[in-house]
Amino acid sequence: MTQHAGPLAGKRIVLGVTGGIAAYKAIEIARRLVDAGAHVAPIMTDAAQHFVGTTTLSALASEPVRTELWHDPETPIPHTKVGQGADLILVAPATAKLLSAYRSGFSHDLLTNTLLATRAPVVVCPAMHTEMWEHPSVVDNIAVLRERGVHIVEPEPGRLAGGDTGMGRLAEPARIVAAVESVLGPRDLAGVRVVVSAGGTREPIDAVRVIANRSSGKQGYAIAAEAAARGADVTIVSTVELSPPFGTTVVAVETASQMEAAMREAASSNDVIVMAAAVADFRPATTAGGKIKKRDGVPDIVLEPTPDILAGLGAAKRDGQVLVGFAAETDDLVANAQAKLEAKRLDLIVANDVGAAQVGFAHDTNAVTMLRPGAEPVEIDLAAKRDVARAVIDTIVEIMRAR
Ligand code: CTP
Repeated sequence: MTQHAGPLAGKRIVLGVTGGIAAYKAIEIARRLVDAGAHVAPIMTDAAQHFVGTTTLSALASEPVRTELWHDPETPIPHTKVGQGADLILVAPATAKLLSAYRSGFSHDLLTNTLLATRAPVVVCPAMHTEMWEHPSVVDNIAVLRERGVHIVEPEPGRLAGGDTGMGRLAEPARIVAAVESVLGPRDLAGVRVVVSAGGTREPIDAVRVIANRSSGKQGYAIAAEAAARGADVTIVSTVELSPPFGTTVVAVETASQMEAAMREAASSNDVIVMAAAVADFRPATTAGGKIKKRDGVPDIVLEPTPDILAGLGAAKRDGQVLVGFAAETDDLVANAQAKLEAKRLDLIVANDVGAAQVGFAHDTNAVTMLRPGAEPVEIDLAAKRDVARAVIDTIVEIMRAR
């Protein structure tokens, strides 16, 4: 797998930065886009330069920052050149002033001229004080831009300038980059409903203690993010508190039995079901209501089996539904995974050797073997979990097309 296999590889992205306190985050966004293989051409407004200097952004982007409509020695009319050559224009952060100017076509500087002189998709990431974000004029501008097909990455609640907190903080850079990927990537899951379970279940012993496992949920979230980026309508049934990827909805659960209920419900309306969660196989047969006290001695904890959620989903599988399981193995990877593939009536199983270095639980990388009924195993060498997710989603798309 090449280093830049994703949808941003080789894409020309104009990054417009306007004058808000969040302008400093544009530097992180530029770096992430460049790391993903994009060519980043930055534009800063005059006000943006009150918050961050041009030097840092010039150094981290793919070319020097442009700031002026005039006096560009290389391009006499930079706005048309920059806008026409772009695969996408991203404005982050976008102030209330930028939204207003863009909405009304008031092209007073290089960035607003570029936005008007392009047919490329545009992603706008507003950031401002809560009062401004909720002001009817801003609400109206956002609604109009959205209607015109501009992609809006909504701000989040959190700390704002001047010590205030509230809605209006710029979305996290990772979320913004995911939105860009989603706009530029293939839309081969458009209209498809996907549910992914993620994380390890926690089975209560008493009011404070649980039986847990080491699953971080990262691989499940990466699959959800990839599916959403490719146009799917994605739900994550999750035991972990990772931030929801752009375009996904999270249903929070804790135990195997809560996960079973949530997955069953989701299965009735979803086309693709991915069980990436590490479900406890055993749970305490009884749960103490309060905290078990030391003075009462070492407790005997009697365990009972949990329901096999995936096997249940396999038994109830509807025609056309795609069911994907995971297998965490330490020995005989392919044989054990093959047995689970058949026993649980799966269309695909993604097996990982959880004993190997850099693989599985808590790591950002994974190496897996994918098995499908009647097909040769496909190995994905050690790669970022997002790259593994891409391979899993590619296979799901293949399964759906073959039907
Ligand atoms: N799974 C499930 N419900 C369980 C246990 C597992 O839905 N109670 C799912 C997991 O989410 C995974 C697949 O079944 O997609 C395989 O899980 P794994 O732990 O590898 O296998 P088990 O079937 O639990 O068998 P074993 O632990 O003996 O290897």
